[in-house]
Amino acid sequence: MLRYWTAGESHGKALWALVDGFPAGVTIETESIDAELRRRQGGYGRGGRQRIETDAVEIKSGVWQEHSLGSPIALEVVNRDSKLERLGDLERPRPGHGDLTGAIKYLGSIRGVLERASARETAVRVAAGALAKQLLREFGITAFGYTAELGGIRVEPRPGTLDEQRVLRDASELYTLNPAQDDEIKALIDECGKDGDTLGGVVEVRVEGVPFGLGTHAQWDRKLDGRLAQAVMAVQAIKGVEIGLGFEAARRHGSQVHDPIQFEEQRRESPDLGYVRPTNNAGGLEAGMTNGQPIVIRAAKKPISTLRKPLDSINLATKQAEAASYERSDVCAVPAASVIVENVVAFEIAAALVDKFGGDSLAEMQARWQLFLSLARQR
Ligand SMILES: Cc1cc2nc3c(=O)[nH]c(=O)nc-3n(C[C@H](O)[C@H](O)[C@H](O)COP(=O)(O)O)c2cc1C
Repeated sequence: MLRYWTAGESHGKALWALVDGFPAGVTIETESIDAELRRRQGGYGRGGRQRIETDAVEIKSGVWQEHSLGSPIALEVVNRDSKLERLGDLERPRPGHGDLTGAIKYLGSIRGVLERASARETAVRVAAGALAKQLLREFGITAFGYTAELGGIRVEPRPGTLDEQRVLRDASELYTLNPAQDDEIKALIDECGKDGDTLGGVVEVRVEGVPFGLGTHAQWDRKLDGRLAQAVMAVQAIKGVEIGLGFEAARRHGSQVHDPIQFEEQRRESPDLGYVRPTNNAGGLEAGMTNGQPIVIRAAKKPISTLRKPLDSINLATKQAEAASYERSDVCAVPAASVIVENVVAFEIAAALVDKFGGDSLAEMQARWQLFLSLARQR
């Protein structure tokens, strides 16, 4: 079973991820993890914290001579802005944060809650996902995330191959697939920032090269659609998750939703084994299992909760009405969210891959993958 936990506070010494169940024999490059960490820190609309932090991962265990050992992999991202011991508490809980609820639940401080609830923690979730991508790469599986909508402006993606779209996305400060719309969105972010307000948006992730049969229909907690939804919903500020057509499916007739099944002999060697679907409204998942089509998953991110023009709150000590506290904050972190969602999705796909083809080593997994493909082609 491939899984991970994280530890660390936003202004503590560091953040850590402990990845357990990662097979032996996978080539591990620190640089490709760092590249994802840099993307997470970027994107138009982020605040001062990202200029202080220059995230880089340190692999503390489980890797030797750039290969995974099959033992737990500890990942560390040091906080340059480490000052937790010097920070005081907040008095006026910020709406949209865990401040009020956490302080009451733990009978403690707001600081103690916000330091862990903060999205700074996603740095190591991205590191774990970027590590998992190095396993996916061995099987030709790619995860690709981008900004689909921001502040109510929908981006019309430019069509193209995955490589072409990656070039477009990486050239965009908003991580969109249509540079012609970026200026309008950036102007909206600027305007919003001047007003002391914040913006949210929608991010989309596509996973390609996924074989048939990851996940299962057989038990609710092993359904891959459910696992993906949990991983994505558990990202800070994500308030909705859709797979394929998502909520739109509820508005259409069945004939306009379900993807017809066709067969093309010449595609037998591809991940879809020749079972072609002219549409992919299911987003690559039927009955909790991958169906050989690309996985398409979208997430709705609410606007940043901390407002420079704060909302009404109360002083926890006096119970008198006061404006909410303000801590240095972003205006918009939707592009960063696209990186986080891409990486948490990648981790879940890798976990499902280990569930299906697992073994102690990459070589064993690859042999089982080939065996499965040859048996499935006879079906
Ligand atoms: C990439 C990213 C950056 C974020 N940056 C901030 C921020 O600067 N200020 C803020 O108030 N919330 C920020 N958030 C959102 C909060 O972490 C989140 O809304 C809060 O912890 C409450 O949790 P919930 O929204 O999941 O209920 C960010 C979220 C993400 C995904």
